[in-house]
Amino acid sequence: MLPQIDPTSTLAWKELEMHAHEMEGRHMKDLFAQDPKRFENLSQTYEDILLDYSKNILTQSTLDLLFRLAEECGVKEATEKMFAGEIINGTENRAVLHVALRNRGDGSILVDGEDVMPEVRQTLDRMKAFCERVHSGKHLGYTGKPLTQVVNIGIGGSDLGPVMVTEALKPYWIEGREVYFVSNIDGTHLAEVLKKVDPETTLFLVASKTFTTQETMTNARSARQWFYEQGGSEADVARHFAALSTNADGVMEFGIDRENIFGFWDWVGGRYSLSSAIGMSIALTVGFDNFAGLLDGMYNMDEHFHRTAPEDNLPVKLALIGIWYTNFFGAETEAILPYDQYLHRFPAYFQQGNMESNGKSVDRNGNPVDYETGPIIWGEPGTNGQHAFYQLIHQGTRLIPCDFIAPAVSHNPLGDHHAILLSNFFAQTEALMNGKTATQVSAELKKEGKTEDEIAKLIPFKVFDGNRPTNSILVKKITPYVLGQLIALYEHKIFVQGIIWNIYSFDQWGVELGKQLAKAILPELGDGAQVQSHDSSTNGLINAYKEWR
Ligand code: F6P
Repeated sequence: MLPQIDPTSTLAWKELEMHAHEMEGRHMKDLFAQDPKRFENLSQTYEDILLDYSKNILTQSTLDLLFRLAEECGVKEATEKMFAGEIINGTENRAVLHVALRNRGDGSILVDGEDVMPEVRQTLDRMKAFCERVHSGKHLGYTGKPLTQVVNIGIGGSDLGPVMVTEALKPYWIEGREVYFVSNIDGTHLAEVLKKVDPETTLFLVASKTFTTQETMTNARSARQWFYEQGGSEADVARHFAALSTNADGVMEFGIDRENIFGFWDWVGGRYSLSSAIGMSIALTVGFDNFAGLLDGMYNMDEHFHRTAPEDNLPVKLALIGIWYTNFFGAETEAILPYDQYLHRFPAYFQQGNMESNGKSVDRNGNPVDYETGPIIWGEPGTNGQHAFYQLIHQGTRLIPCDFIAPAVSHNPLGDHHAILLSNFFAQTEALMNGKTATQVSAELKKEGKTEDEIAKLIPFKVFDGNRPTNSILVKKITPYVLGQLIALYEHKIFVQGIIWNIYSFDQWGVELGKQLAKAILPELGDGAQVQSHDSSTNGLINAYKEWR
């Protein structure tokens, strides 16, 4: 059982509230002016990752209070429980052990007294062997051609992770391999992918933890139908379809060969599953060794998180800084801004990771919370975001803490592109911190030859208050290992925040209601009869659809 501590009842919370009043009046540029060693004091280099959190509205006293909050809320105890395989997903009565999937040590991890590691290792071995068979051409398609195209059919956690990682690791793709993802139930998604692939060279991976998800099952059935229409037979399904799932019975009923089922376990949450068999599309695309490199990086960050004191613990620090703004500064959102085109799906991946985990308003005692929990997560790669929404971050009315992420070394060193990209990264965090004063604006406009009158009129619009917080995460290069570290960094950040907010981060009941209602509405769309059974808006929409279709 996890601790059930209302964070607002802790001493640290009360002190943080008072401290926040003090800090509201402080400007970061003054904090920098007062402490020439601010960067040294408030940044940490861990292997090839530099986390600079000095551009935040905080001091060492803030951090000390936040560390005390973590302690009073039992973060350390909860972490031990997760790594020990205890049942910490209280509403589903499950352990939470994505860390076992990438446990590269030789120790055991027990769930209900049983070591899960032998099965984890065996599944990885099977995945490796399967990749080798596909890559070497031992496993061929029904006309004897190599399977060079992979179509992953899955949604949510069975899609976003593999999409994000395969995009992030594009420089590591094996030559001649193609991977496609179908998630949306909108037939357009599947139809467009099917236009690009050849049935004779395509391997479909049906990725679904439950193997019941409506979108995935419908897409999988339509893909199989297409495969038949293109000349494949029922027997050929064994060569062209594999399943990544915890539900072996459901998979067999679908007609997929037992040999082609790669399983995982109920203690793997969907949004934490990319290091399980769900990562098969990654391994097939970048090769199993690079997939293993990703797991090594995740394991390394797991160990760092598990074994390091909070004061030197990257995920704990990111979590506490997030809590500082969410709970004491009223921030509603957090932006993730990768200055790396390959990381373009990183924000979307952690949108699910974070919002499905911590989008909760009932605490672990079953009571409604009276403090804010999970923030809205969003973001786009820099510099595109700069030309779209940064205006609001700089001069809007809301406080938006941002994480800037960039590699020092580009996989595509094209002219001075990377230097320009990174100059924008550095400039943005500097501008967000310093802002621009009326005196600076006035001097600038004078230089441009503007009259006193023109200057006076323009000043209010051209002033930037600054004091907008950012974390900067600079890594040496996006390798599979570093990407694994970054993923685990954010996963554990989410975990720590959920523990402090006293919520269950590993269930997702909030997605059920819409699914249930869609199932009830679907049969009502079948005929032409007017629908009267809902509220007037829902009836109106359904009836308009029936008339127009
Ligand atoms: O959206 C709800 C959810 O259960 C996610 O948590 C999960 O990642 C997704 O659906 C897909 O579920 P499955 O892998 O069982 O198809």
